[in-house]
Formats: sequence, structure tokens, C-alpha cells
Amino acid sequence: MQRQASRRQKTGVRVGFVPTMGYLHDGHLSLVRLARRLVGKHGIVVVSIYVNPTQFGPKEDFRRYPRNLKRDIQKCRAEAVDVVFAPRDEQMYPPPLPRSPSPSHGEGARGRGGGGAFSTFVVEQDLARGMEGRSRPTHFRGVTTVVAKLFNLVRPDLAVFGAKDYQQAAVVKRMARDLDFPIKIVVAPIFREPDGLAMSSRNRYLKGDQRAQATVLWRAIQMAKAAVRKSPKAIPAARLKAQLRKLIENQPAARLDYVEFFDPDTLAPLSKVTRAARLALAVFIGKTRLIDNGPL
Ligand code: PAJ
Repeated sequence: MQRQASRRQKTGVRVGFVPTMGYLHDGHLSLVRLARRLVGKHGIVVVSIYVNPTQFGPKEDFRRYPRNLKRDIQKCRAEAVDVVFAPRDEQMYPPPLPRSPSPSHGEGARGRGGGGAFSTFVVEQDLARGMEGRSRPTHFRGVTTVVAKLFNLVRPDLAVFGAKDYQQAAVVKRMARDLDFPIKIVVAPIFREPDGLAMSSRNRYLKGDQRAQATVLWRAIQMAKAAVRKSPKAIPAARLKAQLRKLIENQPAARLDYVEFFDPDTLAPLSKVTRAARLALAVFIGKTRLIDNGPL
């Protein structure tokens, strides 16, 4: 991949990059289309497909995360993607896999002392702390590490990330700026099902009536938006959070992980909610953890 990238760099062809973990859906493909539009018809679009072990916690779904490379490649071909980069674990990380290192130690639990094991991580220490970072303490260091590796391998001019993972996009932007990656980070809008559920590879875990209950994330965003728009003054975040929790936990299969109102630029939590705020939430539907967010 890197050899191909440096050869291409000399030709001056623009490269747009869409990193994914595969099991592609229309949300991913909307990013591919945006990348294509941005690099133009003479540009090149690269999609990576890699279920990155270092961003999963020890009790999370790394092993059962849905995978279907053959179908993913077909979808990429249908979108005229130029390059699909689908590395194997041994190519990305020398074994043993540096999976879910404990946040209190510098080294991976199993990687420690394993001569030659992967031992370097990229850590963003500000935007990555709240929300997803609080619920999944080692998640973002896995994301920033693999995205930095992918940037060095693919060497794109621009990379497209989805607003579905709003905090992730902000963290990646900050990393690119702080570490001088010469890459423009573009954020694409959230692509949704007709009933409002944000598209996600994890939606396939939803069984029976869980699928219908999962729309409660979207309904919570709508409820907060309506409340803020009809209130003449700022609403205390605690009050609005309590209302949203009630709405969510009225669904028999739903359990709220977190809901946060924050400044869309700094991601700083807000105690008073106005239209300028953004809302993000994580909800378990049964064992499936879903996230969503939106502007108010
Ligand atoms: P993955 O969850 O596969 O998502 C890949 C990209 O698609 C991310 O930028 C994500 O925000 C975007 N995306 C997913 N669902 C979307 C939707 N419904 N609408 C718009 N965009 C959507 O995010 C990851 O993979 C990984 O963390 C990765 C960045 C690849 C690093 O491993």
C-alpha cells in the first residue's frame, strides 16, 4: 500500500481516503461518494477495511464484529472505488495482538515484554476524554493509533469521516493538526434509515422488536431539539437529561449509557442547553451498544 502510495504521490493525482471496519452499508457509501466528488474524476478513492483490535475493550465485540469482505469488495466495485486496502492483523500489528491495553499502563496487557510486540500508541488527551472515551477508556487510543498508521500507509490528500461518530471525527482532526499530517479531514453527515435509526454495522445485532426500540435514540434527539426550540431560555442540562432517560428507559430493552450536551467545537459539556449545543448519546438495546448525535 505504501509503495503504491508514494509512486502515486509523484504523479500528483489527488487521493481521497475512507477508513472503515467493513460490513459496508449506505452510510459508508455516502462517505465514498463524497470522497469521489472531492477528488474529482481523475482522482483516486481508497477505502480501507480493517476491524481494528486495539479500539475494542476486552469485553467488547471484536470477535463477533460482522465481517464480509467479499460483499464489501463488490459494493466498493459498484461505487468505482479505485483501491480497497484490507490488511490482516499480522500486517498491522506484529503478534501478539496489542488488544485492549489497560489504561493505567503504557504497555498492552499481553504485549508487555513480548519482544518485538507492537508498543507505540498515538493518544489525544483532550477531546477523547469525555463521552465515548469515558465509557470506553482505551477506545480512542486504538482509533488514533490505527488512523495514524492508515494515514502513513495510504498517504491521502483528504480523508472522510462520518458525523455518526462525531467525537471520533473531532479527535482525528485534532490528531492530524497536532501531528502535522498533511491531510484534510472532511466530516460527512449522518446517513439514516427512513425511521431515523442511524446506519451502523452493529444494527445487524438487533433481533426481533429490538430494531423498533432502537429508534429511541433518534426520538430522544428530536425530543431534545423540540424542547430547546420551544423554550425561551436555556434549559438546565440535568433536567433535560432526566427527561431523555425516562423516554429511553421506557423501552423494555433499552438502557442509557450516557447522554451529553456539549459545545460542538470544543466538545466541552454544557450545563445549560441552548440551540447552539449538540447532543450525543449511547444506549444499550439488549446487549447491543448504539450511539447517535445531532445538533439542536
Ligand atoms: P466504521 O464504524 O466502519 O465507520 C467508518 C466510517 O463511516 C466512520 O467515519 C463513521 O463515522 C462512518 N459512518 C458509519 N456509519 C455512518 C452513518 N450512518 N452515516 C455517516 N457516516 C457513517 O469508525 C470506524 O469504522 C473506525 O473507528 C475507523 C475510523 C475505521 C478506525 O478503525
